[in-house]
Amino acid sequence: MYAMRSLRSYRFLVILCFIVGISVVIYRPRSISRITTVKSLNILSNNIDKRLHLLYQHFAHVNISMLLDRPSSNRSPSITYRCREICGGWGDRLRGITSTFILAVLSRRRFYIDMPYPCELTKFLEPNLYDWQPIEHESHRTHLSIETTRNIQLADIIYKKISSTNFIQDWSQYDDIYITTNSDYITPLLANRHIQNLVSLLNILPHESSQPRLFPLIYEILFRPTNQVINLVDQLLIKLNDENNSKKQLICIHIRMGKNPTMANDKKLIYRDTIVDDILQFVDKNLTINKNSMIFITSDSTDVNKYILNKYNTNQAMSIPGPIIHIDRTSSFYSPNEQCQGFLKVISDFYVLGECDALIMPRSGFSDWASRRRYLTNQFNQLYLYCRGIHQITGHQWRRPHTIC
Ligand SMILES: *[C@@H]1O[C@H](CO)[C@@H](O)[C@H](O)[C@H]1NC(C)=O
Ligand SMILES: *[C@@H]1O[C@H](CO)[C@@H](O)[C@H](O)[C@H]1NC(C)=O
Ligand SMILES: *[C@@H]1O[C@H](CO)[C@@H](O)[C@H](O)[C@H]1NC(C)=O
Repeated sequence: MYAMRSLRSYRFLVILCFIVGISVVIYRPRSISRITTVKSLNILSNNIDKRLHLLYQHFAHVNISMLLDRPSSNRSPSITYRCREICGGWGDRLRGITSTFILAVLSRRRFYIDMPYPCELTKFLEPNLYDWQPIEHESHRTHLSIETTRNIQLADIIYKKISSTNFIQDWSQYDDIYITTNSDYITPLLANRHIQNLVSLLNILPHESSQPRLFPLIYEILFRPTNQVINLVDQLLIKLNDENNSKKQLICIHIRMGKNPTMANDKKLIYRDTIVDDILQFVDKNLTINKNSMIFITSDSTDVNKYILNKYNTNQAMSIPGPIIHIDRTSSFYSPNEQCQGFLKVISDFYVLGECDALIMPRSGFSDWASRRRYLTNQFNQLYLYCRGIHQITGHQWRRPHTIC
């Protein structure tokens, strides 16, 4: 066990320093024992700290200490987001994690994330301001397990319970609650009139009372990438510095094909026949590709990835190296090492997508959540969705038309 409390107050101090405009170099206490051979560039780390500072300003009215207020005893009642098998891709998991976190905060339970699948999550992400690392609970404790990812009927029952009953009281008979879900339970939870006495303590404004709006704040509170991710992402972001020390524009493309030779086991997605050509045409015509810009590509198809890297020259296009895997459909296909390398690439890609100046994405939870982390510019800055053609997304009110793309 390490002293999270002091770590937490240390990071508070860091944020305070930002507020009074002091730049500080961050030495994270937990990294000291690690051996790093690569000299750290601190590009991603600095951006993460800047982002957190902006989020704290943006959500200055929110009772953030309530979000961070973790029951200190590991005997406290708990809620764990659990993902030990089939629980969706990274987009689904983020929906489940952030939902479960807010459930834990409002029911004053300790929150944990248990995700050893397909590779231990803590290899890539570590707690930032809230220590969610799982522990083994004693066996005599009472528990409730809820698994809604593959059970639409149960997902619906839980949704109704969370939106219109005092479920916190109903659940109080259990010590530990384990939840596997890919649902948005934040939006119904905050609207539940049976628990408004608790919800009002958070002081979240009505227009922010939804998962998409709160996601950027919750994500940064929970997660910080490990050195492995930081190094991989920094190797890529350093290429944006040109010889005159100014920063090139980062144009990001996420292309999700669905079932393809790289993802033989994935579901078939429709209307993807011309996605690659449509997007490349759009990039060439509508965006400025020159010596002041770089293209980043991530795709679930090795062929598409190669095709795009080959179309541009090497100092114009880049991607994170590593095997392309679907983190939820891996079991018999890949070696344990490939599963870890693939998960590392997924998390690293997710961080790069949060740094883009322009982003073109398909209908995908993965890039949708990533786009919401673009707080250093504006999450809607040059944001485009591929849905049988390219559409510009200009604000929160925009709804993706599920049925046509
Ligand atoms: C913030 O939340 C805490 C509980 O964690 C509560 O005691 C306090 O009254 C809240 N502050 C405001 C201003 O509502
Ligand atoms: C760097 O500056 C020089 C001199 O102003 C200019 O000719 C060159 O194009 C610049 N390079 C880039 C990548 O902007
Ligand atoms: C791309 O440029 C064309 C031609 O200028 C324009 O008609 C179209 O609306 C642009 N597309 C988007 C999505 O902005």
